[in-house]
Amino acid sequence: MAFPDTGSASPGEPREVVAPYGGASTSQKRVRIRHFQKAKQDGVKIVGLTSYDFLSAQIFDRAGIDFLLVGDSAGNTVFGYDTTLPVTVDELIPLTRGVARAVKRALVVADLPFGSYEVDAREALHTAIRFMKETGAHAVKLEGGERSAEQIRRVVEAGIPVMAHIGFTPQSEHGLGGHVIQGRGERGAEQLLRDARAVEEAGAFAVVLEMVPSEAARAVTEALSIPTLSVGAGPHCDGQLLVWSDWAGMTTGRIPKFVKQYAQLAATLEQAAVAFREDVASGAYPAPEHEY
Ligand code: KIV
Repeated sequence: MAFPDTGSASPGEPREVVAPYGGASTSQKRVRIRHFQKAKQDGVKIVGLTSYDFLSAQIFDRAGIDFLLVGDSAGNTVFGYDTTLPVTVDELIPLTRGVARAVKRALVVADLPFGSYEVDAREALHTAIRFMKETGAHAVKLEGGERSAEQIRRVVEAGIPVMAHIGFTPQSEHGLGGHVIQGRGERGAEQLLRDARAVEEAGAFAVVLEMVPSEAARAVTEALSIPTLSVGAGPHCDGQLLVWSDWAGMTTGRIPKFVKQYAQLAATLEQAAVAFREDVASGAYPAPEHEY
């Protein structure tokens, strides 16, 4: 399906859109937080990927991905840290700017890194304002349920949409004892529900549920009026979100069990790099057609 006024290969030229738009907004118009609400009401699944740069954001936007999260997972995927803890606001701002510049349709969500919002609501607001002012993002995300409710409320009151994030929250991985599934058992499921209700009540427009059992995620999804977005929380959530480098086979090493890989880009790039090296060594590149 071709959309004449978006995604032109060269100015004015229609470009093939890879997939007809679906998910939160069925047109090429910009996805807004009201589309998240409507998707939940209509039972339409919302689709998100992380993105950390202009080129990947352009591709995902053209493909009709509803929202792009400039996650602090950039700590692992861009900066090579072992955890997300060292990531700073100053590191994420230029990445978020690149993503926001690339998109025509997707909602861009800026992740607030560890140490930039926990102290109090004022600190959270200050950081959220920096992201909104300096990057062009449309919303922010922060981790924590009941413990972050005041921060969410203050940021939302200032007119900044907040995506919440509960269950396994990577910024607390040491406190949680590692990459451990959350919301297990009766008490775990009750705490998850309390956290979910707290962020909804504080004004979050959506909530990420990371690494929780499907049945606990189902209970939260049925209890809330805002959409739930699964990162390893099973099929009953209102949408799905994955870290793009895991999803596209760019990540070398272990990937979480819940990830389905839709491509093997690391292998493709490596083969291409080997072919290039061999062509240069043999003189096959550059060929006459590559000369001016
Ligand atoms: O930073 C990130 O990529 C995230 C998602 C895993 C939810 O927070």
